Amino acid sequence: MPIYFDHNATTHLDARVLEAMMPYLSGPAANPSSLHRYGRLARDAIEAARVQVAALVGAQPREIIWTSGGTEANNLAIKGVAQHQRGRVLYGATEHPAVMEAAESLAALGQVVEAIAVDARGLIGADALQRPLAGEPVRLVSLMRANNETGVIQDIAALSGLVHAAGAWLHVDAVQAVGKLAVNMDELGADLLTLSSHKIYGPKGIAALAVRSDVDLALLQHGGAQERGRRGGTENVAAIAGFGRAAELAMEELDARCAHYAMLVERLDAGLRAIGGITIFGDGMPRLPNTRQFALAGYDGEALLMALDRKGIAVSSGSACASGSGEPSHVLVAMGFDRVTAKGAIRVSLGVANTLDDVERFLQVLGDIARSLRS
Ligand SMILES: Cc1ncc(COP(=O)(O)O)c(C=O)c1O
Repeated sequence: MPIYFDHNATTHLDARVLEAMMPYLSGPAANPSSLHRYGRLARDAIEAARVQVAALVGAQPREIIWTSGGTEANNLAIKGVAQHQRGRVLYGATEHPAVMEAAESLAALGQVVEAIAVDARGLIGADALQRPLAGEPVRLVSLMRANNETGVIQDIAALSGLVHAAGAWLHVDAVQAVGKLAVNMDELGADLLTLSSHKIYGPKGIAALAVRSDVDLALLQHGGAQERGRRGGTENVAAIAGFGRAAELAMEELDARCAHYAMLVERLDAGLRAIGGITIFGDGMPRLPNTRQFALAGYDGEALLMALDRKGIAVSSGSACASGSGEPSHVLVAMGFDRVTAKGAIRVSLGVANTLDDVERFLQVLGDIARSLRS
């Protein structure tokens, strides 16, 4: 049986989510902006999903803007705020490329954009944030709640007060945190927050940006009045309905899912230590309960990934986006790891359908690889 350990890249579609989508995939064609009864049914489905998705992150339904993915939501947050009112934009050095590159695109247009350094644990301390916050006005700070590679969790609530005291808005990329941690915009102090359906057993191609009502955004997509004029384009009703159901399930099952991950990851951690010669990134830090990133001394991450793939085990080397680039993970480089160690990284991200047997098989295969390397 193949073993899928790449859930931070994407998850399978939950059968209950597919069931919620079916009426809008196979029913009468209807544009939710149409006034006839079919249009109204489609509109109702979208608004019901808005309530479900908002509840998952402690937002109001009217604060949810549907987007095509976490990537678009991050772009909308960063460019939308910065293009509405100019000012400096800051982002964490270990952010996902959808934040880093969106911010850097503003730099190319002449706006001042700065990366905030992380420490060796992958965290941004108050000092590291205070320095770039001083000086010329900052419009937006973008920080991730949990890192997609290492799983390290940033204490956003401890930093949001500093961001607001400097007169800036705080955007939180919570794509990896949602469904694995309780996420609440108020508790985090987030003014904008990104979440994505396909990371929580929902369909791909749909995500959301939650935006507090006092935050003004420039429009990036012109040509339609959808989403209260904040993002034009006919909505993907089936995907939105599926995202809503996935959000509802993620909330209902959060505790059970986390307990399952914790049970699997405890065995994984113990097994990795027993193999020896393994560097676990973010070790000892609060991390996502399903995520472990590590390197086996003497093995290149992509070579290890392929060796595991030949045994039917799917993992990732660093982030899916960096895979195949030959470049070491920018996350590990920002944490101060040398390029060789960083290039050794592979990431295991567990999912709800994984079992202890999967973990045992993985440890056995990895142990064999490590032993053959040593002999
Ligand atoms: C932290 C983070 N932000 C944003 C994204 C992009 O989300 P999407 O794949 O929905 O575009 C990802 C995807 O891996 C991610 O891990």
